[in-house]
Amino acid sequence: MDGNGDGIGDLYGIYNKLDYIKSLGVDGIWFSPLYVSPNADYGYDIADYRRIAPEYGDLEIFKQVLDGAHERGLRVIMDLVVNHTSDEHEWFLAGIANPESVYHDYYIWRKGRAGGKRPNNWDSLFEGKAWEYNEQLDEYYLHIFAKKQPDLNMDNPLVREEVKGIMRFWLDLGIDGFREDVITFISKAPGLPNDYIMPAAKGIRFYSDGPRIHEYLGEFKRDVLSHYDCITIGEAPMMKPSTALAYIDESGAQELDLMFHFQHMEADCLYIDYIPRPFSLRKLKRAFTRWQKQLAGRAWNTLYLENHDHPRVISRYGSEAFRTESGKMLAVSYLFQQGTPFVYQGQEIGMTNISLATIDEYKDVMTHNEYRKRSRQSEEKKMSLIRRATRESARTPMQWSAEQNAGFSTGEPWFAINSNYTEVNVAREEADENSLLNFYRKALRLRKETPVILWGTYREHYPWNSSFYVYEREYERVRLLVVCCFDEKGKRFRAPQGFDLSQGELLLANYEENPVQNNAFVARPYETRVYLFA
Ligand code: GLC
Ligand code: CA
Repeated sequence: MDGNGDGIGDLYGIYNKLDYIKSLGVDGIWFSPLYVSPNADYGYDIADYRRIAPEYGDLEIFKQVLDGAHERGLRVIMDLVVNHTSDEHEWFLAGIANPESVYHDYYIWRKGRAGGKRPNNWDSLFEGKAWEYNEQLDEYYLHIFAKKQPDLNMDNPLVREEVKGIMRFWLDLGIDGFREDVITFISKAPGLPNDYIMPAAKGIRFYSDGPRIHEYLGEFKRDVLSHYDCITIGEAPMMKPSTALAYIDESGAQELDLMFHFQHMEADCLYIDYIPRPFSLRKLKRAFTRWQKQLAGRAWNTLYLENHDHPRVISRYGSEAFRTESGKMLAVSYLFQQGTPFVYQGQEIGMTNISLATIDEYKDVMTHNEYRKRSRQSEEKKMSLIRRATRESARTPMQWSAEQNAGFSTGEPWFAINSNYTEVNVAREEADENSLLNFYRKALRLRKETPVILWGTYREHYPWNSSFYVYEREYERVRLLVVCCFDEKGKRFRAPQGFDLSQGELLLANYEENPVQNNAFVARPYETRVYLFA
């Protein structure tokens, strides 16, 4: 929400929407980076960790937002981006201006190999190769992400002290924790060896879950985090549950409280959104169940379907033609699992992917990189991939109303607004008792009121079925049966053994009439039902 009419969402706007956020039934807010940044990667390239970007406000309004959130019982979680900084950060500039200064070793600088070759063969995940040459120093710096995001040298104890200082600064201000950006990438293998195995994303196995990661996260916890009442949620690309436990097992060192993994975000692609595959419900279910089972009794799950890095979930796993129905079904599919759910802005009103005409209308470094990489493909082919895969679909301005600029701004919005805003907006859904928005509220309230949803064990039924996702939760002899139909055509559903639907209480559903016959029903498109057996 833009509070001052310059077209950019900001803390003034958010301040005025705190009641709305609270009304959803959530307990906290995670802010993507709000710090000073040249925005080469929209805030994930930080130039000053202790200042709010002027386009979002300043520390004063931040404190008002923080107090306002706390008054309403909402915690505030900040993004901590310490795998890399901006190349405009003063440390980086100082290390170039004077390579003898301590700041040079804050980053990963290397001489090139003989024959003018880069220090190793690693790829950048955002822009070409992972090394950028600096003529003045005749050295290369490592950047796993964009060129303007040099990686910090976490092996340097001075850098770790800086990280701790940043953490303390925000925790002392009163925030409640951090979402830690690509935190599992911060320790690089000694010697930065060449990668002769991976065909793409070369090097990733030498820094993902790297050799000293537990030591560093343990140090942050011991020296800082354990002294505060706060939560940490680590972002962990390519994470498997067995590896995740080494970070979040409650009986272990538990260097992180929670972890964002990506496995359930790969049901319609191969590892990344840009290698599309047909949607596979079985793949989605396998990912959900694997995490539910392997963390059971040992660690707490993190549940999400959307964030700023992925296209909108209705467009991916649901159906724009059945926007409200599939939106509700998708909500049920994850909100009743064991764990802490996250809802991304606009997800609660069912915002969908945007389709822009030309590449120039897109803004993100990753989108442009993926476009450039495919120089041999036709324009049409490239654009259709971009429209399907770009994370920018999740970054369009929030749709508050059917008024000009979707009620987001009185000025010229910084980015395109989805043309469906006249249909899909908060005002309209507030007024409709059966809207997706009110469904999210109801589902979140049910979670809080129903112990089996919070604490129950998890068991999946019909894992091989490719139309239904069905799971059971159980706690103190109370059982919950969750039925989600991912099909657009009518499909017959039979209750699993041990359940008599006529004995269950229907807690939540996305169609008005919910008949049952012989312990079965024919599910309508994207139908979902949640039954409680007490
Ligand atoms: C994380 C962020 C993403 C960012 C990347 C590099 O994945 O969520 O938005 O581009 O890290 O910082
Ligand atoms: Ca603004």
